[in-house]
Amino acid sequence: FNVPTPINEPVKSYAPGSKERAELQQALKELKQQHLDIPMYIGGQEVRTDNTLTISPPHDHQYKLGQFHEGDASHVTQAIDAALAAREQWAAMLWEHRAGIFLKAAELLAGPYRARLNAATMLGQSKNAYQAEIDAACELIDFFRYNVYFMQEIYKQQPESAPGMWNRLEHRPLEGFVFALTPFNFTSIAGNLPTSVAMMGNVVVWKPAYPQIYSAYVLMELFREAGLPDGVINLIYVDGPVAGDVIFNHRDFAGIHFTGSTGVFQNIWSLIGQNIHKYKTYPRIVGETGGKDFIIAHSSAQPRQVATAISRGAFEFQGQKCSAASRVYIPASMYEEVKGYVQADLASFRMGDVEDFGNFINAVITEGSFDKLARYIDAAKADSSVEIIAGGGHDKSKGYFIEPTVIVAKDPKYVTMCEELFGPVLTMYVYEDAKFEETLTLIDTTSPYALTGAIFSQDRYAIDLASKRLVNAAGNFYINDKPTGAVVGQQPFGGARASGTNDKAGSMLNLLRWTSARAIKETF
Ligand code: NAD
Ligand code: ALA
Repeated sequence: FNVPTPINEPVKSYAPGSKERAELQQALKELKQQHLDIPMYIGGQEVRTDNTLTISPPHDHQYKLGQFHEGDASHVTQAIDAALAAREQWAAMLWEHRAGIFLKAAELLAGPYRARLNAATMLGQSKNAYQAEIDAACELIDFFRYNVYFMQEIYKQQPESAPGMWNRLEHRPLEGFVFALTPFNFTSIAGNLPTSVAMMGNVVVWKPAYPQIYSAYVLMELFREAGLPDGVINLIYVDGPVAGDVIFNHRDFAGIHFTGSTGVFQNIWSLIGQNIHKYKTYPRIVGETGGKDFIIAHSSAQPRQVATAISRGAFEFQGQKCSAASRVYIPASMYEEVKGYVQADLASFRMGDVEDFGNFINAVITEGSFDKLARYIDAAKADSSVEIIAGGGHDKSKGYFIEPTVIVAKDPKYVTMCEELFGPVLTMYVYEDAKFEETLTLIDTTSPYALTGAIFSQDRYAIDLASKRLVNAAGNFYINDKPTGAVVGQQPFGGARASGTNDKAGSMLNLLRWTSARAIKETF
């Protein structure tokens, strides 16, 4: 048995008249007809409660897609017990058999599950077909295939031995259970966080963000059909602090695999610290958190290339990507040209429902998110120190729609240059061409985050300088490309500073966090 080097799953086009478009439209229709009644999954059992909450698409908030059953603290305890009960057998399984489950999941997702998971992502999280395809299908298939490959590489790497003695490393699972706490914005992240942990022989309690439960349910169907044994991943829908209160007080808590906002992660880290004496083992704390991702153009850059990076890097996925560009630094000599291109691009973006394949911009995730973005936009409209050069409109009468908005700020530390807004709002600062070096310092010191960033330049000295000065400002740094769209197996993804522990999703570095190695020496 040898897992071959994977290749990235090709992205389907969904062109008019294509087979994949017809299948996706059928899946959208079926899902809507099913009005799913979504249970939790604990120890392989469907668990329903008296407390049901409605699921509606963000782009049509009065429409009822289905409902889910919310649990309480007792369900968290049940999920932990189920995980611990499954632990011994799962941890003892040959890694090749664990690998087989996730390779099968990849094949099911590349085939019969593709349309259903994409459709659930479109309806539940308001993503258009292309966004769903890149996220829920391709990226998650890549996570499964590459992680299995990396797992094999980890198990194969062994220390040197010598005549008369033999050294080996045994990669044991962590001693306890792991909590996977996942965000709303990427179905692939929700799928990756519990499975990358489980792959390494660990058992998991998985709590998705509520706005992602619709696609999380389809993911769980997929894991089960791929042969994941009962109790290995237990899916619960419980309020975050309620779940945290049980989990972070439990003696067998052995780690957290988190993606979400910086504040929530910092709070969790504090709770773990307060409880550290209660645990059997030091928990692994892995978290990918917020961002304030930048683009800087040098005066040697090509304006059209910079503008495309802005239009796509900031507004695809409604800007609800941790990697999305949200602050841009443009030299004065290039500003008018870049501005013209960006305005033309944004004017060509259609906004609306996900089932119309011509719509490029869809709704933001929740009313809370909409209100926050609208507040910042309205404050900018009322502030004479800034100018809105594109967008600025918002409407929540049917869905949570925010127009792609570009603010130009005279103050490089204007609030929207610093804070993560997590939506289709970008702020630009125009710097004097001669102040490129000072602007690099500004980028490095304006925000606490360090997730992604990009430099556009045709001048190697400028690229070299930016690369050095911004060495700690981004975990993923792009030269002449937008700061989004990391591909599993090509650009391991993650940031440092307030953006996370930088344990690079989709890489061996991440999987290594989920094993506790035993070094064995034997003499003969
Ligand atoms: P969030 O922090 O609101 O929620 C993340 C998860 O934590 C959810 O499951 C939520 O229910 C849970 N949670 C919230 N409060 C909690 C609490 N007090 N105790 C325990 N659990 C709690 O994040 P979100 O809005 O779902 O996702 C958006 C955020 O995620 C953005 O900040 C974005 O930058 C970040 N993100 C980062 C990356 C990355 O790789 N760095 C990737 C995707 C998203
Ligand atoms: N991996 C995604 C990107 O890089 C989040 O855009």
